[in-house]
Amino acid sequence: MIDLTIHSKTLEKNIAYCREKGITLPTFAMMKNPDMVPEKIKDQLKTIGLWDLHSANLYRITWNNEPRDTGGLFGRVNHFVLPQELTGCRAKIIMLSGRWFPTGAHKVGATYGCLAPGLVTGQFDPQKTKAVWPSTGNYCRGGAYISSLLASKAIAILPQEMSKERFEWLSQIAGQVIATPGCESNVKEIFDKCWELKKSGEDLRIFNQFDEMGNPLWHYTVTGKAIETLLEQYLTPGKRFAGYISSSGSGGTLGAGYYLKQKFPRSKVVAAEALQCPTLLNNGFGAHRIEGIGDKHVPWVHNLKETDFVVAVDDEVPMRALRLFNETLGKKALVNSGVDADLVEKLDLLGISGIGNMVAAIKFAKYNELTEDDLLVSIATDSMQLYESRLNELEQERGVYTDTNAIKDMELISAITIDHTKELSYYDRKAIHNLKYYTWIEQQGRDVEELNDQWYDHDNYWYPMFDQVDSIDKLITEFNDRVGLL
Ligand SMILES: Cc1ncc(COP(=O)(O)O)c(C=O)c1O
Repeated sequence: MIDLTIHSKTLEKNIAYCREKGITLPTFAMMKNPDMVPEKIKDQLKTIGLWDLHSANLYRITWNNEPRDTGGLFGRVNHFVLPQELTGCRAKIIMLSGRWFPTGAHKVGATYGCLAPGLVTGQFDPQKTKAVWPSTGNYCRGGAYISSLLASKAIAILPQEMSKERFEWLSQIAGQVIATPGCESNVKEIFDKCWELKKSGEDLRIFNQFDEMGNPLWHYTVTGKAIETLLEQYLTPGKRFAGYISSSGSGGTLGAGYYLKQKFPRSKVVAAEALQCPTLLNNGFGAHRIEGIGDKHVPWVHNLKETDFVVAVDDEVPMRALRLFNETLGKKALVNSGVDADLVEKLDLLGISGIGNMVAAIKFAKYNELTEDDLLVSIATDSMQLYESRLNELEQERGVYTDTNAIKDMELISAITIDHTKELSYYDRKAIHNLKYYTWIEQQGRDVEELNDQWYDHDNYWYPMFDQVDSIDKLITEFNDRVGLL
């Protein structure tokens, strides 16, 4: 369970601090349904940019932001639909778009899920304690951003090979940015850095997304509800919701899938990863280019009993699709081949892992022989906003994009097969779950009994914990009432 013990002294301090700084906090209910956001906050948002360092932007931690860079309020869940003409599979793939969150990525939600309980219980003191955000990129951007909104100090940790855009922006926002050795899949190095910081004696609170349940809790509650709302719209008679596909970095986004399985018990949860680092598929390891995912370990917060499929995606496919979807000649070729021109203009809403998710969804659809009556849902965590530099690097590496490249890249997508798609048996799931032992018990000092509870006492472990969201909301509401600004 998430610890909700009240620390009264710090709580009093936090209330006084937020009153002084003009800060109030959104409840999870508001993030699910922004109609509930107070009018006073909506008035403020009308003049505030999406990424501005203004505490009212905490209320923009929702999938329902109006797609505007400034002054936007709330509307429908941001998404777009990928049809057969683009994907080559018969099922439609609905992609939620993370582009319209502050910081341009949905990970800011996970950071709030981890931080909010600490603030409203008084377990975390933003005036005194530095928040540490270990991440492969977007989570530490989100964490540094939220810390900034709270006018408190943050340390962002991410691997040195992440995209330039991430580092440039972070250097302006986070008090301290620590680059750890390696790429994407070098999470052990990030954990080592956390231990080093812990031992330094500095007053720090490490919000470790890989083992903080606030991370999947946010997705279970907010992303899960956003998808359910969309499905109410798309599931016309005769249509089926077949599955939810999410790549795993910290394993948080998969949390929405557990919610969806409660609501649509015949749907499947599909975890995607890079073929170059196939830890879930076959205990593999390696470096890859899908930023944000696949970390040579199984996150503590990943619920394997609810994971039905693992799909590994060759990272070359997203790299080539990135060019196809964003180069002028690529977009022209897509339109000529029959893809709707409006959709083509929206394909820049897919970052690299979003394209990876699309590829995994296609594999899942083909493996399961899905038809036009089936709907799949997946996530575009971030967008091309964070990868322009990657596009330039690809041009330097491979030359200017040509018509021939575009044709070959379209063929690459239509030729996606079901290879590296694994339907998990009970013991396949257990084998992956057991891998947690080596990272979490041996290395990181977690409790083996809890590991066993995750598996053997599954229903009592996971669902009461997710249901704590109502208690957290109650604490947030009481906190706001005592701040007294709404
Ligand atoms: C671009 C991108 N895609 C996917 C993910 C994976 O999401 P999660 O950590 O919730 O598994 C991340 C995580 O940081 C990310 O930054």
